[in-house]
Amino acid sequence: MRIGIIGAGHIAIKMAMTLKDTPERRYAVASRDYAKACDFAAKYGFARAYGSYEDLVNDPDVDLVYIATPHSHHFAHISLAVNHGKAVLCEKAFTTNAREAEEAIRLAESKGVFLTEAIWTRYMPFSATIRETIDSGIIGQPQLLSASLCYPIEWKERLVRPELGGGALLDIGIYPINFARMCFGTDITDISSACICGPTGMDMQETFTFLYADGRVANLQSSARSVCPRQGIICGTEGYIIVENINNPLRAVVYNRDYEPIRSLEAPPQLTGFEYQVDACEEALRNGWVESPYMPHAETIAIMRIMDSLRQHWGVRFPSDEQP
Ligand SMILES: NC(=O)c1ccc[n+]([C@@H]2O[C@H](COP(=O)([O-])OP(=O)(O)OC[C@H]3O[C@@H](n4cnc5c(N)ncnc54)[C@H](OP(=O)(O)O)[C@@H]3O)[C@@H](O)[C@H]2O)c1
Repeated sequence: MRIGIIGAGHIAIKMAMTLKDTPERRYAVASRDYAKACDFAAKYGFARAYGSYEDLVNDPDVDLVYIATPHSHHFAHISLAVNHGKAVLCEKAFTTNAREAEEAIRLAESKGVFLTEAIWTRYMPFSATIRETIDSGIIGQPQLLSASLCYPIEWKERLVRPELGGGALLDIGIYPINFARMCFGTDITDISSACICGPTGMDMQETFTFLYADGRVANLQSSARSVCPRQGIICGTEGYIIVENINNPLRAVVYNRDYEPIRSLEAPPQLTGFEYQVDACEEALRNGWVESPYMPHAETIAIMRIMDSLRQHWGVRFPSDEQP
């Protein structure tokens, strides 16, 4: 599977590092600036460099396009790749809103082209381990979940500009949401929230609560202004689990009702953590799938709808929201 990267920015470098031991996957990179693409290709060992995204999707040897551009451009870049018959792994947040997500997925499904969201935690084996540990009953009946993810990244242009799909929610808050849905499922009956916006009207700090049909509660936070422990805590009738770093969970400890640690869980050694989503794409292409079982299309759309409703409640709008 030969991968072509669209956008030679920050996260593209992490993907390039992920592919360092798999030269057969490390194929092409495209930037709007040809010199930048050439530098990137030379530095990370890619065979082809392109000065436009169109040139990359016209390369018949690209099997999978990895979209590593700002949220505002995901819909256009998915459409570009899919219309050229290219399978796509698109960075989170999948699009700026649910309307774009639904349209992109409809297009890919109508053309029989594989498309999935690069929300890397979904593809990690340790995420399944956490879920299995909850389901094993070791903490009794799960009742309460809390998770927060914060990085002081308000200085990034991408975070503050509405036309780039800014705000902490789409960039960071998406991880606590995914963590809650992986641990507690999808039967959410009510959402309440509050947020603080920055000078450009984008959400910078927020707290939101999901209530579930069976009485469970998830309390989630994200911030583009602070550092935080990044923990996820799942509390049950007989104990609790503390997951270190919901952005890349590598370790979790289970405690009993006397607050004593009773089990320690470790993730298998990883390269960067991105390798699992790449492997999942290869598995999908091998099997002719149009979506990945790790992050089904319906789940991507459901999460975009939740983020739409949160933004609507806060009055956080993108230019793309104005389109019918
Ligand atoms: N999975 C993770 O852990 C993780 C972490 C950080 C970010 N991300 C996601 O990755 C995506 C990209 O984030 P990033 O931090 O890599 O962003 P970035 O470095 O600010 O930008 C990525 C690239 O997008 C391209 N681009 C195309 N149109 C653009 C425009 N109008 N303005 C600015 N850049 C434009 C540029 O590439 P060229 O100049 O080469 O064309 C730029 O270098 C986002 O969806 C973000 O949420 C994921």
